[in-house]
Amino acid sequence: MGWYQYVMAAFYDPFMRTLEGDLYPYRKRLLSGTRGRVLEVGAGTGVNFPLYPDAAQVDAIEPSRAMYLKARNKNLRPNIRLYHMGLESPELDRIKPADGYDFIVSMLVLCSVRDYPAAIDRYAELLKDNGRLLVLEHIHSTGTSYGRFQRFVNPLWRPLADGCNLTRRQDLDLKQRFYPLEEGYFRLGTDWYWAVMKKR
Ligand SMILES: C[S@@+](CC[C@H](N)C(=O)[O-])C[C@H]1O[C@@H](n2cnc3c(N)ncnc32)[C@H](O)[C@@H]1O
Repeated sequence: MGWYQYVMAAFYDPFMRTLEGDLYPYRKRLLSGTRGRVLEVGAGTGVNFPLYPDAAQVDAIEPSRAMYLKARNKNLRPNIRLYHMGLESPELDRIKPADGYDFIVSMLVLCSVRDYPAAIDRYAELLKDNGRLLVLEHIHSTGTSYGRFQRFVNPLWRPLADGCNLTRRQDLDLKQRFYPLEEGYFRLGTDWYWAVMKKR
């Protein structure tokens, strides 16, 4: 449904505005230490772009044409190259550094990637051995009545919110492949997880 992606892209920033005020300090803190080759997965409308230091050479990828166009018209800087492609795209293998990325940025994206286990494997494949995975993701509020509500509404929410799942535990699944050097949880509507991780 191509037209729906344009509706999503048009309303994404206004819809997120209230939430973004609270997410901003996490984004800023995680991104302020980036440098070298950085891969931002699912850049959306480009909210992270102003937060990268000049020392970061960012490859930002975004598979939705509507989101890609929004991001391209907003906040692009000389150290950011934006590509219209997804994580699974073979084109990414052509642009990635031979020894992998110094940083991979995964913010609000693992909820909506279709092949979720493959995405986590792909992060491990694309990250340098001593690279860092920077994570900011909303997670399922497991074991709470709110979590049960999330399970109930997820089949309705997912198609409305462009594939966003409310029932994933990205924290637990990422920890199978990555070790958290720093991590934290917070509550903002649902539960959220942030982390600086390295490959196990
Ligand atoms: C909720 S938006 C988040 C955008 C941005 N990362 C942020 O922090 O605001 C999720 C984005 O992930 C993108 N996405 C979904 N599947 C993807 C995939 N397989 N590879 C890369 N990006 C993907 C979507 O197109 C969407 O723009």
